[in-house]
Amino acid sequence: IYGKQRLNSRGVNLNIRSHFYPLKDAMAAFMDKQYPAKPLLAFNVEDDAANTHQVTSPYDRRKTVGSVQWTSKDQAAKAVDAAWQAFPRWEVTPVAERAAILRRLADLMETNMPELMTLCSREGGKLLTDGVDEIREAVDFCRYYAMRAEASFGEPVELPGPTGESNRLMMSGKGVFAAISPWNFPVAIFCGQVVAAAVAGNTVLAKPAEQTSIVAHRVIELLHEAGMPRDVVQLLPGDGPTVGSVLTSDPRITGVVFTGGTDTAQIINRALAARENAPLPTLIAETGGMNAMIVDSTALPEQVVVDVIQSAFQSAGQRCSALRVLYLQDDVADRVIEILKGAMDELRIGDPRDLGTDVGPVIDEDARKGLLEHIDKLKAENRLVAETPMAAEHTQDGTFVAPAAFVIDSIDALTREQFGPILHIVRYKASELDKVINDINGRNYGLTFGVHSRNESFATEIAQKMRVGNVYINRNIIGAVVGVQPFGGQGLSGTGPKAGGPNYLLRFATEKTITNNT
Ligand code: NAD
Ligand code: ALA
Repeated sequence: IYGKQRLNSRGVNLNIRSHFYPLKDAMAAFMDKQYPAKPLLAFNVEDDAANTHQVTSPYDRRKTVGSVQWTSKDQAAKAVDAAWQAFPRWEVTPVAERAAILRRLADLMETNMPELMTLCSREGGKLLTDGVDEIREAVDFCRYYAMRAEASFGEPVELPGPTGESNRLMMSGKGVFAAISPWNFPVAIFCGQVVAAAVAGNTVLAKPAEQTSIVAHRVIELLHEAGMPRDVVQLLPGDGPTVGSVLTSDPRITGVVFTGGTDTAQIINRALAARENAPLPTLIAETGGMNAMIVDSTALPEQVVVDVIQSAFQSAGQRCSALRVLYLQDDVADRVIEILKGAMDELRIGDPRDLGTDVGPVIDEDARKGLLEHIDKLKAENRLVAETPMAAEHTQDGTFVAPAAFVIDSIDALTREQFGPILHIVRYKASELDKVINDINGRNYGLTFGVHSRNESFATEIAQKMRVGNVYINRNIIGAVVGVQPFGGQGLSGTGPKAGGPNYLLRFATEKTITNNT
């Protein structure tokens, strides 16, 4: 089972860092550039200094990346007007034309990869390895959705006509979509949402996360350069509740594609439902997780630790897919924990632009404060198993949190998703397996899950029992690949559609049957 040479999920061997050097040289040109970002709307937007916010780097809060002018409520409402008016024209634009724009954006993102990666680091605190994954995933989304759109939205499907009539099924856009995205995949998820909605024939109002609006601005500039009409995709940077409330209360918004916290998805759901005289909306929500991994006594401890380190601490644990709760069967628990402690000791925390860094900062001070509160509470209960040493000289000016592992009694001890480099370990006895499965499923999150076992029937049986969107057997549980591992969860983790999957675009579409008796 473990015999394969393992590259990371995008085919990059993370141990070979030398191939990043040419990119690093190209990135130098963008390291100090200051970016002025503002709403990119169908109409001209005046400068508004009072509504402009400085953006700083999570690894060094003294460094600025630029500034972002937030969208006002009035501008957001006018942007909805423009999107509404653009829809009938965009809906009938041939799908080949729409798909061609996505392919041109993919090419432009590849050409501009050093700049986009630099912005992911400077604004989002991403490691260079994560930056490569990020841009590649965005490129993959564009090419994959272009291909899927041509397959599904091209010629109408001819259906049987048993009574002599002809029957045809046509797919088209639903109307105006709001695309609301998080900071942790500021290019991949941001871009994936926007291009999926647009290529399916919808006009789009893109609301990026407050923390990563500059890189989103750059992507939309490239999308417009690729030929996307400015009234078909507009960018509305700004405060979530302010811009969000304009979008989610407007009856002309036919759908919302949202990725972010479960609480925010619930606010959006309620706002959409409260609208009067509005069409029943589509809500595509991809939200948080409380992701677990079960390790049985046959698993290889060394391989388990490699996969746990990646799953829990890569991207500083700021992936919705990241591992939060590791269930270790008693017989292997001591051995796994011993190796894990050693591996956590080896991790290097620091500047994400340094090729030797393993763990960068968390996104901002609010995030750091919340994580430290949780860490302090578990430390006070004497639950600490291991903590990566953190050198003050590399971290004092940023928002860093040292990777930490704690022993807890059950997943029920966790009140909410801890979105950072914190691993919780639960020891279990073989006789308790059913309870373990019930406890994990009982939390009602359902995003990713992992199982490590050399007993294949055990692994497949557990995989079948878990109510989650993505199961990984004998590997890490992060880094789903577009077109290969369609990604998305169920229950509190989302409404179910799988980004990067063959059915995703259909969720943005309306189907029309034309029966002709002529
Ligand atoms: P968040 O919910 O705080 O913000 C997400 C977006 O929602 C931002 O653009 C924000 O401005 C906007 N927003 C906030 N309040 C709003 C409101 N009232 N109305 C409309 N929009 C509003 O999430 P975050 O902190 O940016 O991202 C981290 C979360 O995202 C984690 O919970 C993580 O698990 C989740 N996530 C899930 C997936 C997935 O595919 N399931 C992927 C990445 C991240
Ligand atoms: N697609 C991202 C991952 O799988 C969220 O890690």
